[in-house]
Amino acid sequence: MTISARLEALLRAAESICVLTGAGVSAESGIATFRGPEGLWARFKPEELANVDAFMRNPALIWEWYTYRKTVIHQAQPNPAHHALVGMERLVRDFTLVTQNVDNLHARAGAQKVLELHGNIERSYCVECRTFASEIILAKQGEVPTCRACGGLLRPDVVWFGEILPQLVLQEAFRASERCELFFTVGASGLVYTAAGLPLRARECGAYVVEINTEPTELSHRCSERLYGKAGDIVPELFAHMSESRKEQPS
Ligand code: OAD
Repeated sequence: MTISARLEALLRAAESICVLTGAGVSAESGIATFRGPEGLWARFKPEELANVDAFMRNPALIWEWYTYRKTVIHQAQPNPAHHALVGMERLVRDFTLVTQNVDNLHARAGAQKVLELHGNIERSYCVECRTFASEIILAKQGEVPTCRACGGLLRPDVVWFGEILPQLVLQEAFRASERCELFFTVGASGLVYTAAGLPLRARECGAYVVEINTEPTELSHRCSERLYGKAGDIVPELFAHMSESRKEQPS
């Protein structure tokens, strides 16, 4: 892989890095992305599954779908891209990982801190009293799990269509984008706002923005550099560069 001299210099010396990951970072773990011919939204209608009205109409169906997704996710393992990002987190003083993914694979790889913009499929909370369930819930077919505290319906802690993103998490993500020197957007289609606003904001504030994707996206032309290929190949290579060049520096 060929990278620019500017990126090389930043890998060696940047003290503030922000990374946004999308579904593409988990594709090599065997978790389907959302868009594209193989994507989840090609097979399932978002309006039927990923919104609160659908849930209130037929919570058992939504739980069946999420239990299926959880099962797929539990069988999946973090891939080399997830692991390389953990390595970067350990090397860089100010490192922020922001994800659109709900699959918890960054945490399972060992990431210390992840800003989850769309929630986390492992968590569930009560629609009545907002209490979080203490365990990972897998529903039996036709059943709807309920809250131990008040008996209300439990729902997965994921952001559905028409819902707002967790505002404090989003603010933190924007602050990290505004102060970083280097920003990576990895496996994100650039179609899902507000997340797509993060690399744009980073660029406006002077960061060098690098896109890592298997193909060009809506955001490609607004990035400083584009690296096309699989996240599981490119991110570990960037991490290897980073750790080698940081070792070479006199302390
Ligand atoms: P998408 O499914 O929209 O896009 C996945 C991106 O990953 C595409 O640009 C692919 O080209 C790229 N890609 C696929 N395999 C890759 C690989 N091995 N390495 C690198 N890139 C790869 O996913 P997101 O942009 O994350 O939102 O958008 C997903 C969001 O849309 C979800 O969080 C969900 C959905 O609506 C909510 O549920 C709120």
